[in-house]
Amino acid sequence: MGRILVTGGSGYIGSHTVVALLEAGYEVVSIDDHSRSHDFIMDRIKQITGTEVVNHRINLVDRATLEDFFCNEHTGITGVIHFAAYKAVGESVANPLLYFENNLVGQINLMRCVDQYNIPHFVFSSSCTVYGNPESLPVTESSPLLEPESPYGRTKLIGEAFLRDWVLVCPTRVAALRYFNPVGAHPSALIGEFSRGVPENLLPYITQTAAGIRERLTIYGRDYPTRDGTCVRDYLHVCDVALAHVAALKHLERHTDAPPFDVFNLGSGVGQTVLEMVQAFEEVTGTPLTYTFGERRTGDVVAVYADNRKAREQLGWSTLYSLQDMLRTAWAWEQALSQSHNTRQ
Ligand code: UD1
Repeated sequence: MGRILVTGGSGYIGSHTVVALLEAGYEVVSIDDHSRSHDFIMDRIKQITGTEVVNHRINLVDRATLEDFFCNEHTGITGVIHFAAYKAVGESVANPLLYFENNLVGQINLMRCVDQYNIPHFVFSSSCTVYGNPESLPVTESSPLLEPESPYGRTKLIGEAFLRDWVLVCPTRVAALRYFNPVGAHPSALIGEFSRGVPENLLPYITQTAAGIRERLTIYGRDYPTRDGTCVRDYLHVCDVALAHVAALKHLERHTDAPPFDVFNLGSGVGQTVLEMVQAFEEVTGTPLTYTFGERRTGDVVAVYADNRKAREQLGWSTLYSLQDMLRTAWAWEQALSQSHNTRQ
């Protein structure tokens, strides 16, 4: 088993992936500047797995420090999983340069080091945002890529393009994973998503409303051409997303004849409306939710869900967690956060 560098190892998907890697027998080293995460996450990971993971507090934009890290630590690293990026759509619209620098300059610096030390495998966090408002559903990996709705989305599209060009001239092979809507938390309720300020995403908004932190959920739009007028998304459990990264690494390790750059949709393959999510949350947790309908949110797509056949067939991956698991673990995480106020932000 190799040693894997995880960037953003203290973040939402990163921390769950570190757990999955350790449980699969990999050794892990993390780089995370904690600008959007907490330094105690590695302790929580130790509580879950019994293994201590060292995190190096480095911002990928700081090229000199990153190069020092690789110079000292590259021995034995066989793969890099790159999560460290900002992902708040609204913030990216307000501050595009912050996103271009953090997400793209950080990625270039990381690619330079991977190149210099000939690290063979690279897994990239992409997003279904690259499909925009798709004309036909479900979307496959060959569905058209559309003009991004936000600077955040643009960094994912450009990030993929950088990697696509780069593999033509370097020995590293890349799997880009296009996440649909990761939700939920680790069943231990020790790690999960920390929303900064008022959450932009649906599930944290639902759980914070149920916990009494927000007065009511606003459902953005009720006149979409969908079965109940609200938007359709493909939600999947963050632990399933984490397991897909392990599967992608193993795929790169085993299939040396696989394309040097490949993309995989990570979704459940099933679309849920916002109203269905609200109703399912109420049923699963027995907690009523206060909600109203508001205007459509700028930039929202009507409906998107994945054709996940490629990930199932080629990575041998499939979702293990149900919608009920997603909602139950998201709620358990919210309740755990409420009990330890200092960790909410
Ligand atoms: C959003 C981003 C996507 C990004 C992802 C990262 C947009 C348009 N898309 O996905 O690019 O990869 O976050 O986390 O911002 N909703 C409500 N009320 C709320 C919050 C959300 O009705 O308070 C609805 C939204 O209109 C949407 C659904 O819930 O229909 C899911 O929203 P969200 O969780 O923000 O995810 P996406 O918009 O799919």
